[in-house]
Amino acid sequence: MEMNDIRRAGILGTGSYVPEKVLTNADLEQMVDTSDEWIRARTGIRERRTVEPGTTTASLAAAAGKRALEAAGVTADDIDMVIVATCTPDSIAPSTACVVQDLLGIKRAGAFDLAAGCSGFVYAGAVASQLIAGGMCRYVLVIGAEVLTRFVDWTDRNTCVLFGDGAGAAVFGPAAAGGVLGADLGSDGGGRDMLGIFGGQFTGASRVGDAALRAQIRMDGKEVFKFAVQVAGESALRALKAAGKDEAAIDLYIPHQANYRIIKAAAKRIGLTPDKVFVNVEKYGNTSGASVGIALDEAVREGKIGRGDTVVLTGFGAGLTWASLVVEWE
Ligand code: UT7
Repeated sequence: MEMNDIRRAGILGTGSYVPEKVLTNADLEQMVDTSDEWIRARTGIRERRTVEPGTTTASLAAAAGKRALEAAGVTADDIDMVIVATCTPDSIAPSTACVVQDLLGIKRAGAFDLAAGCSGFVYAGAVASQLIAGGMCRYVLVIGAEVLTRFVDWTDRNTCVLFGDGAGAAVFGPAAAGGVLGADLGSDGGGRDMLGIFGGQFTGASRVGDAALRAQIRMDGKEVFKFAVQVAGESALRALKAAGKDEAAIDLYIPHQANYRIIKAAAKRIGLTPDKVFVNVEKYGNTSGASVGIALDEAVREGKIGRGDTVVLTGFGAGLTWASLVVEWE
């Protein structure tokens, strides 16, 4: 690739796509010993989306990516790199990004998947902004996409009520003004057994794995909750510091949509009023690597982000990982 001048990257357009099929809390009451009341009180979730047979992570990702390209006003030919953040790829190899690149008719781009659990979309945004800032790419399509319902243990009420499917995308490109001003990326592999997709052929990877099972989502909810409440706020503040700003600068905070209680506690730590925090967990549940991308797109389309606004994106999840980006909207 030809190296261009060093420049700051911004987000030029966003898109998202969720499957049509809705799984409500009432539906889950028929499947496990739970209640709509418990799920809403403990998580804020009312419903989530699930794919039909035949729908893949790549097809959700491509649908979201297409909308982001349209919103950004760039064509498939403009894209230099496709990054798909996912922990539920359709196959280990080839990458889901290669399938998306083909589905969207993107001919002259590199493509790879990025694995950072629920922090994936924000991690991918950080990578994209540096590919652009360093001059290696001009336009990068970042997509977070998950089909988590294929990895849910539908007999485990601790986890099956939490997750849903979907995809969120953004086109990163040269910023005319503002753009990505700061980032915070982190991990603590010591917490690797707390949350993840374990089992099946991946038994060697973790103590939690069980050869007799297919790969399934396992989580120590209480421990992850404590981690999430702490890191979601701290990571946002570190990214703001890197951007030379503080919490007073935030116009909109878009955290990973895992649980309304986590979001509320993180916002309180940062000192944000509810109007500065974007929440849509009630509609989609936890869509892992897709959630920040879906939330960002909804915030843009609902007119919640204006020119010059400072937006903070924060992800946290399996790894353990966390990531924040500070973006000044153009
Ligand atoms: O995406 C990456 C990040 N992931 C997260 O951030 C998730 C973090 N964790 C959480 O959001 C919360 O820990 C959960 C929502 C998963 C659980 O909430 P909690 O307040 O931590 O509940 P708990 O695990 O302490 O469980 C309380 C009780 C237990 O019963 P006992 O042992 O007190 O009798 C559970 O068995 O609630 C029970 N329970 C349920 N009851 C009805 C657990 N799941 C359910 C359920 N329906 N679905």
